[in-house]
Amino acid sequence: MEVSITQPDDWHLHLRDGQLLHAVVYHSAKQFGRAIIMPNLKPPVTITAAVSYRDSVLNALQGNINIDFTPLMTIYLTDKTTTNEIKLARESGVVYGVKLYHAGATTNSQDGVTDLFGNCLPVLEEMVKQNMPLLVHGEVTDPEIDIFEREQVFIDRVLKPLIKKLPKLKVVMEHVTTMNAVKFVESCEEGCVAATVTPQHLLLNRNSLFQGGLQPHNYCLPILKRETHRQAIVAAVTSGSRRFFLGTYSAPHDRKLKECACGCADVFNSPVALSLYAKVFEEAGPLDKLEEFTSFNGPDFYGLPRNTRKITLKKTTWKVPESYSYASGSIVPISAGESLEWLPYLPS
Ligand code: DOR
Repeated sequence: MEVSITQPDDWHLHLRDGQLLHAVVYHSAKQFGRAIIMPNLKPPVTITAAVSYRDSVLNALQGNINIDFTPLMTIYLTDKTTTNEIKLARESGVVYGVKLYHAGATTNSQDGVTDLFGNCLPVLEEMVKQNMPLLVHGEVTDPEIDIFEREQVFIDRVLKPLIKKLPKLKVVMEHVTTMNAVKFVESCEEGCVAATVTPQHLLLNRNSLFQGGLQPHNYCLPILKRETHRQAIVAAVTSGSRRFFLGTYSAPHDRKLKECACGCADVFNSPVALSLYAKVFEEAGPLDKLEEFTSFNGPDFYGLPRNTRKITLKKTTWKVPESYSYASGSIVPISAGESLEWLPYLPS
């Protein structure tokens, strides 16, 4: 059995740089037409860096045949970002979003925003003028707030006031993990606020962090939540709503940095993401809704054309490798060693 769908895009992807970039980019490029490339490098990606980072991504793919992959760059919002940088970002033609991390929220967020309304309001107003989306890591960093509640508190403390102040700002709530986020996105004006959803937050609940021992390769931020939250997200994406779209959030770290006393937060999923999304839609029933989520809702929200190529998902059992080796180590994907169905391939 085969299902053919319009080639998907990945609206949330971490590619890193150097050897890791070379190790992972092909996994995305051989399946996705475009990807929103996250800017949390060290130092953070600013407008000048975005242009050279884009070149590095494309250079890392040189020599691969049958690849037609467009990196859609983002810049990192800091307390010091200027309105002029937003204008330059729009004029560059290669920047498609500005990423908001609050300082301390996750990997390489130390340069993030400390006071969004106090320090960034003119920049956000310029983004409205330029129709430049704000891509939000939606968690408060207040250590008093329980780690499992940081997303819902962020909605109340930051997102609701933000939308009230700037109702025409385009916002993508990245990697939603709770029913609160689903309800919030559904309550906003369609076309202004949307959300990306990862495969891990559709498939796993917080038990997966501790099943049979600590599971570092399931640890990411925002952290996996209760089953009821997972079910609410599955219901939202399989409902046919246009507000939710594919964003793998695939984020590689070397195995040594995951399997250690203070392991990094991330999930590397690009080699398996499409198989996992297909599994979720198949289990929920309407596999025919998959294409809207993977291939239509994202470009429609960003105002970009839908891809014209097709990708085929073949219903066949395949085994996820235990790890992927690269120059200086290895990277462990989510579902390592497991058998999956739905193998994606791009007809040449
Ligand atoms: O767990 C995470 N890791 N969450 C993010 O938002 C960033 C990512 C990374 O870059 O490793």
